[in-house]
Amino acid sequence: MSGVNEIRSTFLDFFAKNGHAVVPSSGLVPKNDPTLMFTNAGMVQFKNVFTGIEKRPYDKATTAQKCVRAGGKHNDLDNVGYTARHHTFFEMLGNFSFGDYFKERAIELAWTLITKEFGLSPEKLLVTVYADDDHAADLWKKIAGFSDRRIIRIGTSDNFWQMGDTGPCGPCSEIFIDQGSALKGGPPGSPDEDGDRFLEFWNLVFMQYEQVEPGNRTPLPRPSIDTGMGLERMAAILQGVTSNYDTDLFKALIEAVAHAVSRAPEPATMASYRVIADHLRASSFLVADGVLPGNEGRGYVLRRIMRRAMRHAEILGAREPTMYRLVPTLVREMGQAYPELMRAEALIAETLKLEETRFRRTLERGLSILDAESRDLQAGQNLSGDTAFTLYDTYGFPLDLTQDALKARGIGVDTEAFQAAMQRQKQAAREAWKGSGEAATEAVWFGLRERVGATEFLGYETETAEGVVTALLTEGAEVSELKAGQSGLAVLNQTPFYAESGGQVGDTGTIAGAGVSVRVTDTEK
Ligand code: SER
Repeated sequence: MSGVNEIRSTFLDFFAKNGHAVVPSSGLVPKNDPTLMFTNAGMVQFKNVFTGIEKRPYDKATTAQKCVRAGGKHNDLDNVGYTARHHTFFEMLGNFSFGDYFKERAIELAWTLITKEFGLSPEKLLVTVYADDDHAADLWKKIAGFSDRRIIRIGTSDNFWQMGDTGPCGPCSEIFIDQGSALKGGPPGSPDEDGDRFLEFWNLVFMQYEQVEPGNRTPLPRPSIDTGMGLERMAAILQGVTSNYDTDLFKALIEAVAHAVSRAPEPATMASYRVIADHLRASSFLVADGVLPGNEGRGYVLRRIMRRAMRHAEILGAREPTMYRLVPTLVREMGQAYPELMRAEALIAETLKLEETRFRRTLERGLSILDAESRDLQAGQNLSGDTAFTLYDTYGFPLDLTQDALKARGIGVDTEAFQAAMQRQKQAAREAWKGSGEAATEAVWFGLRERVGATEFLGYETETAEGVVTALLTEGAEVSELKAGQSGLAVLNQTPFYAESGGQVGDTGTIAGAGVSVRVTDTEK
């Protein structure tokens, strides 16, 4: 039986032996992509290598990449804890070819690794290909000796991979294992494909296009390969268990939770242990990568993940901050592979403790309000949007925490009324502020702040980054463009420029884009 750490190194060693550079995981905050919330796949750090903008000293690479899917296009948060497979944080093992090999070699390498190194029995395996990809289907016949029956053609987005709304993309071929008829579920493409019996564990993407903007797809300079294997899934397969949460690494984390709350898991409480174990990983890795809990953007996603776990700790009977006590176990299990976790251990523990201490002040009271307001509701009914908003605004309950708390009873939340309550509050704040008689030019900033949100600061981690210009201003008014030679103000969604805010000097530097170069003479908050 192989542990998670051995499986990871077997994968990387196999591709290193086959001429691939072993490249470290990139951070969870994508520096080269302003449109992504978090790194959500192994290919993210290579996005510009695929499109030809960036050159690296190798044309074949392999990685074990930290990924978070809890916001943006790929968001698994709501499912975590209730299924055997979903995670907010997971590791993706991948091999990449940047214009070197393409479909045939990719399939050959994959087949050799899973049948020879990992020893999976070929009879249990089957694959999908994109509906009209005859070439991939023929290669699977030739290399794996599959009959048509085991090559399933799928014509939907399930077999076409896209990182986000823009970026490199292409048709893919997914590899599945049949875990036997004791589990429910049908093969991919069948009505009951969501069952656990047929498990997808590796996605081979034949990168051929770049989605430049919606509706505009151009071919990549050279056809390339991007693959992604879920490490947690492969560990479950090789360890003969049907849930990722029963693998060695998760067992160790769940044991630590049980120890911390002095209570052993039972079927009825298992989801809570899973949520805590999963969210501990996401929270710790995000903090190690420079994200801190906050009220907007990435910081708010982190806060939501942390608080969701903290509520589950409360369910298990914890009356004191608990999450921070689990950090040493996580570092013991994963610190070798990800040294940043060891370096940030104290910061992670401190951040979790502070957040949990803060949240505990309102958690109990919030839960009792939730309980009182939902007591008479039946499955299929909704909690009122106003109550959900009070829980959010006064008791620090993110909306999805409230939804999660009601999920088991089949009760929803009136999210429209929740949003309306939020809008009313913003409107009231705006009116109160208008009355204060500030200068008219500053009114622009109030509107902008509401429309485009805060700028995220990346400068503790990096001195260069990509960002999106969310607004341009000159002479106190918003404009749609600035001409060559003109000066003005640019607002960005994220930036490494340090802003002056009462004291220190704002950063200076350069902003460059396609055909544009801008001198930055000052940065202000
Ligand atoms: N990018 C593909 C995925 O995330 C394969 O790595 O599934």
